[in-house]
Amino acid sequence: MAGQKIQAPKGVSEYVPPRSAAFEFVRESLIEPARLSGYQLIELPVFEDTELFKRGVGESTDVVSKEMYTFEDRGGRSITLRPEGTAGVMRAVIEHGLDRGQLPSKLWYSGAFFRAERPQAGRYRQFYQVGIEAIGLDDPAIDAEVIAIADAGFKRIGLSKYRLDITSLGDAESRSAHRIDLVAFIASLDLDDATKLRASLNPLRLFDDKRPEISQAMADAPLLINYLNQSSREHFAKVTSYLDALGISYTLNPRMVRGLDYYTGTTFEFVHELLGAQSGIGGGGRYDGLMAELGGQALSGIGFGLGVDRALLAAEAEGVISQDSFVSDLFIIPLDDLAKEKALQIASSLRHAGKTVEVAFGDRALKGAMKGADKSGARYVIVIGDSEITSATVELKEMKTGSTSSVKIDSLLSAI
Ligand code: HAM
Repeated sequence: MAGQKIQAPKGVSEYVPPRSAAFEFVRESLIEPARLSGYQLIELPVFEDTELFKRGVGESTDVVSKEMYTFEDRGGRSITLRPEGTAGVMRAVIEHGLDRGQLPSKLWYSGAFFRAERPQAGRYRQFYQVGIEAIGLDDPAIDAEVIAIADAGFKRIGLSKYRLDITSLGDAESRSAHRIDLVAFIASLDLDDATKLRASLNPLRLFDDKRPEISQAMADAPLLINYLNQSSREHFAKVTSYLDALGISYTLNPRMVRGLDYYTGTTFEFVHELLGAQSGIGGGGRYDGLMAELGGQALSGIGFGLGVDRALLAAEAEGVISQDSFVSDLFIIPLDDLAKEKALQIASSLRHAGKTVEVAFGDRALKGAMKGADKSGARYVIVIGDSEITSATVELKEMKTGSTSSVKIDSLLSAI
C-alpha cells in the first residue's frame, strides 16, 4: 500500500551507522591475519546450484534438510542461497583448475550467508562470515596454522573470553571402525522414527541432539577419538603439539559435532563465554573427501568460517571496541566560497597522508557548523575564513579538552 513503511525481512542482520563502523573493524580484523599468511581473495556468487550443497554439505544436516533458501529461477533451475562457503569454494577451485596449479591453494572470502533458522540473539537468516580454505596439503602444521589464523583474528579484535574446542574425526578407516560400534550402540536405544532416520544418514548427529533423553542415552556411546588409527592419531598429536608451541590453548572435546557432514580429521570450534546459546564464534576443520565428492581430484583441505555478527556481539559484550576509534581526525568549517576551496585542498592533502577529514559544506552558520563538528566526534576542528587564508595559520581546537593552538596550515599534519 502506498506510503506504508516496509521493514527488513525477519531475522536478517544489518548494520547502519554508528555500529557499522564496529562491524567493519571486526570483519577487517578477522580477514587481516589471513592476508598476512598469504591467503588470496576468492569472490563467489551468493547463489549456487542446489545440488552443490546437497552433495557437499550433506542431507543429514539441519543446514540442508531444513534451513536452505531454495527456489526455482526463471529458467526452472533449482537455486539455493549459499548457507556456507566451503562447498562453493571447492566448486570454483575445480571449475577454474586451481587444483592443478600451485598447491596448497590458499583462499579467503567474506560475505553474506543464508540459513532459514529460527531467529534469536546471534542467530540470523542472513549473517556474515569471514572464511579461509587451504586446499591440497595434508600436513598437520597447516591445521595448526589455520587455527592460529582464526585465533589471531579474534585477538586482533581484542577478544579474550573465548575457548577453542578441538577434536579429530579421523580418516575414513578410523571412522568406519567407529561407525560399526556406534550404529550397534544406537540400535540398542529406543528411538523415534525421525531420529532413527537421522542416525542412519549420519550416526554422529545424535551426539549433537539437545533433547535430554537423547543426550543421556548417548552418554555411554563409543567416542570416535578412541577409534583413531595410527596415522590419524599421529596427525592429531602433531596438530596439538604445534598449538602448544604457538601458545594457543585448547580443550579436547571428543563429543563435538560440527553441523556440516564433510568434516574429517582435525575439527574445531571457538566458543565465546558471554554469548549465551549462540556462543560459536567460528569453526572449521579438515574435509579430505569433499573435493572428490564434488567431482574433483582427491585433494585434502582444511578451513574455517568465522561469524562476523557474533564476533561483534562478543566484542560488545567484552567492551573491547570503543566508538572513539572510528571518528574523524579533523573537521574543517569553511566560512565562504574561497574558504571552501582552501578547505577542499587541505582535506585532500591530509587524506592523502591517511588522515580522516570531514568538511562542513552547505553555508551553515558557524554555530550550527560547530554543533555538527561536535556531533561527528572529530578529534580536532578548524575554521577557515579570510584571515586564516591570508596568514596561512589556523586555530586548531582539540574537541575533547577545548584547548586551542595556533598552527601553520602546512604543519597541520604533524599537529593532529
Ligand atoms: P559453521 O560452523 O556452520 O561452519 O559456521 C561458521 C560460523 O558462522 C559459526 O561459528 C557462527 O559464528 C557463524 N554462523 C553460522 N550460522 C549463523 C547464523 N544463523 N547466524 C549468525 N552466525 C552464524 C561453516 O559454515 C563452514 N563452512 C566453516 C568451514 C570452512 N569449515 C571448513 N572450511
